[in-house]
Amino acid sequence: DTDLTFDPGLEHVLAAETRLSTIDGEAGELVIGGFPLAELASNATYEEALYLLWNDRLPTSEELDDFRASLQPHRELSGGTLAALRETAERGDDAMDAERIGAACATLARGSDAEPEPKRDAMVAVAQLPTAVATYWRLSNGEEPIEPRDDLRHAANYLYMLTGEEPTDEQVRGLETYLCTVVDHGLNASTFTARVIVSTQSDVVSAVTGAVGALKGPLHGGAPGPVLDMLDAIADHGDPEEWLTDRLDSGERLMGFGHRVYRVRDPRAAVLSAAAEQFYADEESAFFDLAKEVESTAVDVLAERKAGRSLETNVEFYTAVLLRGVGVPRELFAATFGVSRVGGWTAHCLEQLEDNRIVRPRSRYVGETDRSWVPVEER
Ligand code: CMC
Repeated sequence: DTDLTFDPGLEHVLAAETRLSTIDGEAGELVIGGFPLAELASNATYEEALYLLWNDRLPTSEELDDFRASLQPHRELSGGTLAALRETAERGDDAMDAERIGAACATLARGSDAEPEPKRDAMVAVAQLPTAVATYWRLSNGEEPIEPRDDLRHAANYLYMLTGEEPTDEQVRGLETYLCTVVDHGLNASTFTARVIVSTQSDVVSAVTGAVGALKGPLHGGAPGPVLDMLDAIADHGDPEEWLTDRLDSGERLMGFGHRVYRVRDPRAAVLSAAAEQFYADEESAFFDLAKEVESTAVDVLAERKAGRSLETNVEFYTAVLLRGVGVPRELFAATFGVSRVGGWTAHCLEQLEDNRIVRPRSRYVGETDRSWVPVEER
């Protein structure tokens, strides 16, 4: 193995071929299912983006109706999932723990006689996650869960199950734009996790469960809640530059900035900030203005400190601003990322299975090789 190159973080390793999305990190461009991001995100409903990723083309109107109808019966949670979510909500666990439970328990919703079947499991996982997250949220707030409605689409159902109120068209479109923007993004950590799991010929529900675990970390999906906390703290403090400099001086990373692949502003930031702006009219506009000021100040402050390493806004910064505008609680930002990305995870699973080879890289051994056993009483 000595001729293999050790690449921590696998930054320079090509580990899959995919037709799902491609990123140009130098130009700041993202193409999903063949569409430039802005084209897809401003037009597609989540179901259309999902169909596109799973089938490599857009559905006809009839196919779309059928696709929506086939997702619908998988939305309702099993009694077992509900009981587990009730317990996790009572314990005060975080929403990503609830989402992981929702993912793992998705097998309970596929029916007792059913064998795992990749596409059906993908459908079940996609349909179950929003219900699980919304149910957890209601229970965490001492409220009873709200069942999904047959007449509402995926995005609208999620908002409805959170509040019990039918969302406005603007809220639904705002959420659709978010869900379509983050649905897939190359071989990110959670997607890679899903592909590794399914490559062992495990099942899609297991792959989604592992992917939720990978998404939970703040270096991946866990940043947008802290971004909003940061914006609130800066609003209280009053001086963005001083606040941001203090954080960096104490060795902290600024949430919502920097990216493994992008060397320029993440193209998703432009799409999300454009979608967010409409929610910040009149007295709310001060918040949007603050976000823009914090962005430009942070980019300047980071440029001073990390000369040579371009650190710009990533997807999470305007995710926080948009989801706040749509009315998603900040505690659910990371879980809502999962509600979208499950579309990409499942599409990657299906793609991996088309031409599978178990993912099994090598490691370089740096441990001892010549130890002699010492009996426990002599150690
Ligand atoms: N604030 C302060 N310094 C930073 C930041 C940041 N947000 N991001 C990177 N740096 C520094 C880092 O400390 C390092 O400095 P040094 O060489 O002096 O140690 C230098 O910039 C290079 O960073 P890196 O560690 O090579 O970057 P990476 O590719 O390993 O990490 C990242 C990418 C996203 C994990 C990182 O930028 C980060 O921690 N950002 C904050 C958390 C965040 O916003 N996460 C959401 C990621 S986007 C969602 C997704 O696509 O999953």
